[in-house]
Amino acid sequence: MGNPQVIAFYITISCIAFVISKIIISVLLYKRWKRKHLVHEDSYSDGKLVMFRSPAMQSLKPDMFLKKTLKLSNKDIIGSGGYGTVYKLTINDSTAFAVKRLNRGTVERDRGFERELEAMADIKHRNIVTLHGYFSAPHYNLLIYELMPNGSLDTFLHGRGMNKNNKFLDWPSRYKIALGAARGISYLHHDCIPHIIHRDIKSSNILLDQNMEARVSDFGLATLMEPDKTHVSTFVAGTFGYLAPEYFDTGRATVKGDVYSFGVVLVELLTGKKPTDEAFIEEGTKLVTWVKTVVEEKKEDHVLDRNLESCPIDEINSVFCIALMCLEPEPSKRPSMAEVVKMLEQTKNNNAVIDC
Ligand SMILES: Nc1ncnc2c1ncn2[C@@H]1O[C@H](COP(=O)(O)OP(=O)(O)OP(=O)(O)O)[C@@H](O)[C@H]1O
Ligand SMILES: [Mg+2]
Repeated sequence: MGNPQVIAFYITISCIAFVISKIIISVLLYKRWKRKHLVHEDSYSDGKLVMFRSPAMQSLKPDMFLKKTLKLSNKDIIGSGGYGTVYKLTINDSTAFAVKRLNRGTVERDRGFERELEAMADIKHRNIVTLHGYFSAPHYNLLIYELMPNGSLDTFLHGRGMNKNNKFLDWPSRYKIALGAARGISYLHHDCIPHIIHRDIKSSNILLDQNMEARVSDFGLATLMEPDKTHVSTFVAGTFGYLAPEYFDTGRATVKGDVYSFGVVLVELLTGKKPTDEAFIEEGTKLVTWVKTVVEEKKEDHVLDRNLESCPIDEINSVFCIALMCLEPEPSKRPSMAEVVKMLEQTKNNNAVIDC
């Protein structure tokens, strides 16, 4: 007689157990999914956080900073490149950083991280992005930079023609970016001891601060060079479209290789075209070859970014000439970055026309 009641009791218990087990499995799966999407998976003690002394960092508590850093997830991503993913780390309404995650695992990846630290640790210059610290864990490293609110020149220039504020990059802004980046690179080449060859100058490594001032970033390929040396032998690295021709033959990194890459950035600013554009590769030509031919025929207006057509033509022609000097096939004929800065300054200050 009690049987139906017992059966009902067991059925109820089984249903409840089933539902509970489903809930537990769902929670576990959710936790696993969440862990996968977090930057960090190790416990706090598994990594080492180093915060460099700077006004931006001194008011921050390392514990709180670390906690926030380790909570970064996919929704915080602001960019990604061949070597890592970049996240926005928001501390409060007025403080934020950019955190680049570099996976470990190969010697070359670890070298990139070490190079970045070696090159950037002591650098303080208004045209070079500041490194505020780093976090080193067994499976990955994090580099903590100042956040550049206007992103990279690459995104600003080619991101569907407009940036997220729908502002167009006018000629004065382009000129200011060119001069700022040139000053940053010149500082690396001439004022740092040992001198620094960047080896990956390109528009995505030129970041823009709140005043649209250029900051050179990304020192993962940078090479330190003692003052009495003229080159450093290395494996060929960098980005296709920006690399100097001699680099492929000799494998030697020189400051003149950076000058060439900077010339490509100038051409990019003038034409609004992407040097890595597949259209150029498909046609078997390069942005640089195309521009050189046209400028030699004195038809600069054929390659000039259409949006710049009403801009001061003398200034634009001078910058075209400076670009061509930087792009000389023979490295010794290229100007130094200090000379490039001087020529760019003259273009504006004295209204001097630079002739090619
Ligand atoms: N400090 C920063 N502040 C704001 N945005 C940044 C910062 N550093 C990087 N970014 C953004 O993240 C993007 C990716 O940067 P990352 O250096 O990883 O790759 P990349 O320069 O595009 O390519 P590559 O890996 O070939 O160098 C940049 O293009 C830029 O938009
Ligand atoms: Mg970069």
